[in-house]
Amino acid sequence: MKEIVVSLVCTFVLAPVLAFAIFAVSWWGTAPDPIMPQPSHLAPRNTNTTTDPPGGNQVISTSMRPVSGRLLFLANCASCHGADGSGKGDLVLDRPARSFKDGGFSFGNTLPAIERVIASGIPGTPMPGFKQTFTPAQRRSIARYVQSLGPPIIKSDPDATQMVITDRPRVVRGELASLGADLPSHPRGIIAGGTDGLSWEYRVDDVRLLAVRQGGFVQLRNWDGRSGEPLLPQGRLVRLIDDGGPDASFLVDGRPVRSVLKGTAFESDTIVIEQLLDDSDIAVEEAGRAITIGPLSGYARSFRFGNPKNLKVGINLHLVGEPKEIGRDSKGVVWYRTLGPDGLVELTGLRNAALDEQDGSSIAVVAGGTDQEVEIVTLLIADWDDSMSRTLLEDEVST
Ligand code: HEC
Repeated sequence: MKEIVVSLVCTFVLAPVLAFAIFAVSWWGTAPDPIMPQPSHLAPRNTNTTTDPPGGNQVISTSMRPVSGRLLFLANCASCHGADGSGKGDLVLDRPARSFKDGGFSFGNTLPAIERVIASGIPGTPMPGFKQTFTPAQRRSIARYVQSLGPPIIKSDPDATQMVITDRPRVVRGELASLGADLPSHPRGIIAGGTDGLSWEYRVDDVRLLAVRQGGFVQLRNWDGRSGEPLLPQGRLVRLIDDGGPDASFLVDGRPVRSVLKGTAFESDTIVIEQLLDDSDIAVEEAGRAITIGPLSGYARSFRFGNPKNLKVGINLHLVGEPKEIGRDSKGVVWYRTLGPDGLVELTGLRNAALDEQDGSSIAVVAGGTDQEVEIVTLLIADWDDSMSRTLLEDEVST
């Protein structure tokens, strides 16, 4: 544990500084000689013939700009993924880092997919988010380098078999397969995918979030609903809510209510799920997106309520364990820690809502008044240690 902390410090504090220095040197190095020919052997290639560890006899050239993806990789990623991308870094992880050499990308091997994983990390694993560390251009050059470590990409038309998210969010409707043994399938469901790489699986006869996934979106074979087969979501599970069979999402005056789907709408990078709570005239607009706080990664759900009668509304948090309060951050988010599924630590941040308990379930009670917006942030952490609460309470939230 201590080792990991030390290594993390190296990774997040020292490595970016080093990387920047090297990057700056390489930039400066090229500037005086703009017509210098570009030796093509220095550019990242699909065949990685380097077997020497970096820092050995091999001289790492710093004179060419295209190499920066590689240098940033060596400084920030190699400790876990190995200098050659084999997944054998110096850090010993409970959950091993991915080998890029064999091309096994469960989150997609396209440039945008790799860039998204670099930005948002993988919640619940040691893979940190680098949104605040790198500019988009740096993420692109690292992604190019990561891609070059793998086998050549066979170009096939992904749209022929998969529905993918590119520049705008998408939503598909159809039957959802059961998410667990003894659980029913849902004849009416939707899967909403944002441009941040997260997708959200809801049953909609009574709107309830069932699962949050990351990576691919939906397999195409049946998304038009004509084949009679359920939708096949492609992303990897980040969080299965209540083992796939959650209770009602909302409570009004302390009683669980049915939520009726009114429609879906696009809002910049996400899909908004519009709902109406039975017998109460309360309208809800719900949306979700990826979030990172420092290196911690997860997702945020926001809820806008139109609540003309000003009734008491609660949102079921579906927490697994008993929440312990961590504190309030500078933006007024109050943070709680629970032991989540799979032994992960789950952090829950509440904005404009207060934690309450009812029949053993944790409920976020919406602060009074009409048209309130509530945010519930979930971070999933593989290796929690108490110093992280400082990151949490001091760091700026980036979306
Ligand atoms: C602290 C260790 C650690 C560091 C540092 C780290 N990673 Fe990872 N990374 C992991 C682990 C572990 C996984 C696999 C997570 C899982 O799915 O179980 C992973 C997964 C990934 C994936 C997803 C592969 C897939 O399956 O699609 C990509 C891409 C990736 N890392 C890129 C990077 C890049 C680029 C950097 C540096 C900017 C980096 N990582 C730094 C630990 C790390």
